Amino acid sequence: MNVRKGTEVARGKTKILYESLDDARQLVVRQGDAITAGDGARRDVIVGKGRLAALTTSRIFRLLNKRGLPTHYLGGGEDEDENEMLVLRCEMIPLEVVVRGVVAGSFAKRNPDLRRGATLSPRVVEFFLKDDEHHDPMISREDIVARGIATQQEIERMEGLALETFGVLEDAWRRRDVLLVDLKVEFGRSGERREVLLADVIDNDSWRIWPHGREEEMLDKQIYRNLEQRNEEALGRVKRAYEEVAAAVADFD
Ligand code: C5P
Repeated sequence: MNVRKGTEVARGKTKILYESLDDARQLVVRQGDAITAGDGARRDVIVGKGRLAALTTSRIFRLLNKRGLPTHYLGGGEDEDENEMLVLRCEMIPLEVVVRGVVAGSFAKRNPDLRRGATLSPRVVEFFLKDDEHHDPMISREDIVARGIATQQEIERMEGLALETFGVLEDAWRRRDVLLVDLKVEFGRSGERREVLLADVIDNDSWRIWPHGREEEMLDKQIYRNLEQRNEEALGRVKRAYEEVAAAVADFD
């Protein structure tokens, strides 16, 4: 990708956003080698993870664009560059939108009466406020509107797009006999019309995936969250899972 990067405009736990010197409406997203959990309380570096994350994200956004879903992705991330993709500049909506098709994670904790691994039908959509200091608390739709974070109409749009995204990715994984358990996406507003777009990244940190529907075969970031010892061997296992996922996603079409 041949984009001239300007100054850094924002930095997340695993990525850096730069201005594009060629077009003020665009940004460059560079994914790095950090892996974090527990709102940054746990952090390691896995050399090559940024490359795998960029490959995964760009392929997923390409697929979503192809299916007609509005995303911020414009290009890049796939070639031997510096793990950079070009995106539309957005005003980010500070929410994590989680879709769940299967009982797991924090949902299982909050609903101890439900069996872990049970199918959720219809799927559940939950909103969490992006706020590391307060551990990304869950937030109701009413509170989102009351606090001026998003309008009712935007909430409905995010919910619809998150469910559609889940459907596309669930299908793609199902064809490889992998169960998409849950998925986190984020949205931004773009352009004068403030159109709601799928933004941020969607990679192996964003979902839970269970090959053959078996939790013990998981390939996603939960492997890292669960590590008791973060030594070289353990982080090597995490990296191999990310490699496997990037290779599988490369065939998504
Ligand atoms: O932990 P919880 O069950 O609420 O996570 C739901 C989904 O959202 C999982 O796929 C997890 O990987 C993802 N997630 C995330 N970023 C967070 C919290 C959760 O991508 N900060």
